[in-house]
Amino acid sequence: MIEVKDVSKSFGNNQVLKNISFDVKEGEVVVLVGPSGSGKSTLLRCINFLEEFQAGQILVDGEGVGYVGSAGGSRRRQSEADIAHLRTKAGMVFQNYNLFPHKTAIENVMMGPMLVNKESKEEARAHAVKLLGKVGLADKADHFPSQLSGGQQQRVAIARALAMRPKVMLFDEVTSALDPELVDEVLKTLRDLSNDGMTMIIVTHEMQFARDVADRLLFFYQGAIIEDGPPAEVFENPKTERFQTFVKRFQSNVHRG
Ligand SMILES: Nc1ncnc2c1ncn2[C@@H]1O[C@H](COP(=O)(O)OP(=O)(O)OP(=O)(O)O)[C@@H](O)[C@H]1O
Ligand SMILES: [Mg+2]
Repeated sequence: MIEVKDVSKSFGNNQVLKNISFDVKEGEVVVLVGPSGSGKSTLLRCINFLEEFQAGQILVDGEGVGYVGSAGGSRRRQSEADIAHLRTKAGMVFQNYNLFPHKTAIENVMMGPMLVNKESKEEARAHAVKLLGKVGLADKADHFPSQLSGGQQQRVAIARALAMRPKVMLFDEVTSALDPELVDEVLKTLRDLSNDGMTMIIVTHEMQFARDVADRLLFFYQGAIIEDGPPAEVFENPKTERFQTFVKRFQSNVHRG
């Protein structure tokens, strides 16, 4: 469902992705962990083409991301329409959920499908009701963001991304800005999505969650993947000292949730 092949990206002289390759099969959950600045967000942003990349290729559901033509050859940027289409296939949720403050929860969920996917108001509303139910907010549809907790707002943001009927979902530290007691309700939503068979890449520092939910764990270090495998294997038998050192720093999270 997602193929990342030899992707490299630099900001000026700073190479932040170094020949990254991996793929994500349909229904698979891949969790990315790694120290701050190792390139996790940049990779997710490349998959949704919020960032350009200089080398390599990314495919989502068989379609090339960002560029027409082969890497190395005569590569040029896709049309804005194709890029917009791509972004409907890969839903993304960030740490800061950025709901529209003057719109209710359900209006936030309905907007994208109506504006971008040209769904009718009725169709968009019916789907939004279903999705708000799925994230446990059926009774909050008419609340404004300011009337919702951080965890509830983040779940609205997840429903909003799902409303675009994406093929894959990309989550970038969606619990990092939340008070600790609100983290579990958002992680539960991610677990539910995984159980529904959604294909996902999740960047998180929640190690226990990573162990429980990931089919594959990738450990990023300075722009490269230096551990890759089922989480039990990586946690029990890490190939690198760096991963062990990293995990020790998050021991406090390991016993949560
Ligand atoms: N827009 C930008 N311009 C220049 N450098 C950038 C830009 N965005 C990111 N970087 C650099 O790219 C590197 C990777 O950043 P990235 O945000 O991908 O890391 P991360 O693994 O997501 O870190 P964190 O865990 O703190 O979110 C860092 O060195 C960062 O300073
Ligand atoms: Mg990041």
